[in-house]
Amino acid sequence: MSSEHYFSETPGSDFKPKEINVEINGLAVSVETAGGIFSPDHIDQGTAVLLEHLDKVPPGGNLLDVGCGWGPIALSLASRAPHATVWAIDVNERSLELTRRNAARLGLTNVHVCRPDEIPANLEFEGIWSNPPIRVGKVELHSILQTWLPRLADGAESYLVVQKNLGADSLHRWLEAELPAGFKTIRVDTAKSFRILRVKNRG
Ligand SMILES: C[S@@+](CC[C@H](N)C(=O)[O-])C[C@H]1O[C@@H](n2cnc3c(N)ncnc32)[C@H](O)[C@@H]1O
Repeated sequence: MSSEHYFSETPGSDFKPKEINVEINGLAVSVETAGGIFSPDHIDQGTAVLLEHLDKVPPGGNLLDVGCGWGPIALSLASRAPHATVWAIDVNERSLELTRRNAARLGLTNVHVCRPDEIPANLEFEGIWSNPPIRVGKVELHSILQTWLPRLADGAESYLVVQKNLGADSLHRWLEAELPAGFKTIRVDTAKSFRILRVKNRG
């Protein structure tokens, strides 16, 4: 078994891009994926559940996809909100390359793909969507969420999908306890084995 994780910075396997057919914002498209990243064969089930919660995507401003993989969330946001700027971040270089290629393929010029440390320091987000990397462990996961969620603009919302048996309810409690005052987390959906948590900065 390979010791490679989907969250490795530099996947050990050779880069062999392949095409898969998926639906992005209701459009049938073909995108590139590869081994060594998260869910390379199809849109992950949890991500698919999250993508049903795009009705509140703000039409403009800066939006963030934390942990973009090959880009299903960032591409959907960018297609849905062509006047918004979508920031797609990941630590896995192959994921960044594939999201860049997929945005270009779909003609989505409003996607900025970069490493987390390349996001401008003073940027606030009108919305954050994520299928967060639960498997990095609690300490790292909490640090990722503490880095990005407090950067929601006043009144802005974040939608997170977490599998029930991978700690969705304990993460919900942690968010309620640890995010700054004014942030409120509620469960807005349970579908299949997933929960959708909505974090709002009430200002
Ligand atoms: C569960 S996957 C979701 C991927 C993609 N959004 C999707 O829905 O298919 C989580 C992603 O988070 C990335 N990741 C891990 N640690 C990260 C970090 N510190 N900052 C940003 N992304 C990270 C992983 O490399 C992985 O691509």
